[in-house]
Amino acid sequence: MKRILLPMFVALCVASAAHAQQAGSAAPAAPPAPPPVTGQNAGAASDTPKPSPAGSTSAQSPGAAPTAQGSAAGSAAGGTAGMAWYDQLAARPKDTSTNFWLPKAVNAEADDSDMMFYAILALNILFFVGITFAVIYFTWKYRARPGHKAEPSPAHNDALEITWTVIPTIIVVFLFYFGWRAYIRVVTPPNKAVEINVLAWRWAWEFKHANGVTDNNLHVPVNTPVRLVMTSKDVLHSFYIPVMRVKQDLVPRRYTYAWFFATKPGTYQMYCAEYCGTNHSQMKPAVVVHEPGGYERYLNDKAAESTNMPPVELGKMLYEKKGCNACHTVDGTARVGPTWKQPDWGKQITMSDGKTVTMDENYVRESILSPLAKARPGFPPSMPSFEGQLKEKEIQGLIAYIKSLKQ
Ligand code: CUA
Repeated sequence: MKRILLPMFVALCVASAAHAQQAGSAAPAAPPAPPPVTGQNAGAASDTPKPSPAGSTSAQSPGAAPTAQGSAAGSAAGGTAGMAWYDQLAARPKDTSTNFWLPKAVNAEADDSDMMFYAILALNILFFVGITFAVIYFTWKYRARPGHKAEPSPAHNDALEITWTVIPTIIVVFLFYFGWRAYIRVVTPPNKAVEINVLAWRWAWEFKHANGVTDNNLHVPVNTPVRLVMTSKDVLHSFYIPVMRVKQDLVPRRYTYAWFFATKPGTYQMYCAEYCGTNHSQMKPAVVVHEPGGYERYLNDKAAESTNMPPVELGKMLYEKKGCNACHTVDGTARVGPTWKQPDWGKQITMSDGKTVTMDENYVRESILSPLAKARPGFPPSMPSFEGQLKEKEIQGLIAYIKSLKQ
């Protein structure tokens, strides 16, 4: 027993020492340079005020992030220039630092599951190496050779059988106990938690906060339990944040829950981990863990932004927020649906049934509310209706945005 536990203990100590060392030396990521401005709206960026440096995020002083920054012509630009400060946080390169073998955990509740992982790994290595060497050694020792007579095999050995039953049983009981304890914690959110509603559909995420603010990236406070109440509009999706060690399916017509306690501010990657169709791989929003106070500012600033937005801005925001960008590009290339770039605005376009339609406000509105009414050649009718899901102002914003893409 001692002989088995000692090397296992040593292996675990080495693994956790590596863990602690890397966690201690973690420096905040350097501020990224804003990506180059691209797209047909590039011109719009030139007359906007110079944005605060993207790197102001590590300090997050309130002065560095004026609310007005998110609105006005600036956010029509393709780069981070002119983006609201919280969207700049989401656009930062993701923190991809790793431990020994796993992405570095950012959830206080992840330590137990990581410990289980390393304990089981250490046990596996130990038994794999031990058994392999025993097999090789015995194969060599008892090989057939001239002058060597095969010895009779013992039919039964009580001591041996008790040993190889009792030792694994003890190990398995330990593994079960620690695994069960960690599992119970993972599935039991504390009563006092920030609650965020998560809605997924093909192919987008929507995170809805207590004050009604919605976003397609997940913003959460640091050092606070966050509870997610999740459901899907259509098929199974799966909420997966590797650094939080949290993965939970989203099921249509049913709520599922997840929670975590983020320990380090930063920008992390989230995924959809259940194959859900063509653009499954695009369902990967950012997770922004805010510095203390940042989450509250995010809620206020984001709430302020969603009102009084110019229609084109609103349309552009909805293009991303409502997941239009999963199927439609704005650069002229085709995806699941036709591009929104509109050189033909105001002209006649041909439908797949041969009829022609004027590409105008009426056609766009109909396409949003009754997408199956008319189909463009080469694009099978597959878009869900947005009837009842958009306010009138939002429909007008989308029309304005599409119209603005005519050059
Ligand atoms: Cu949603 Cu995969």
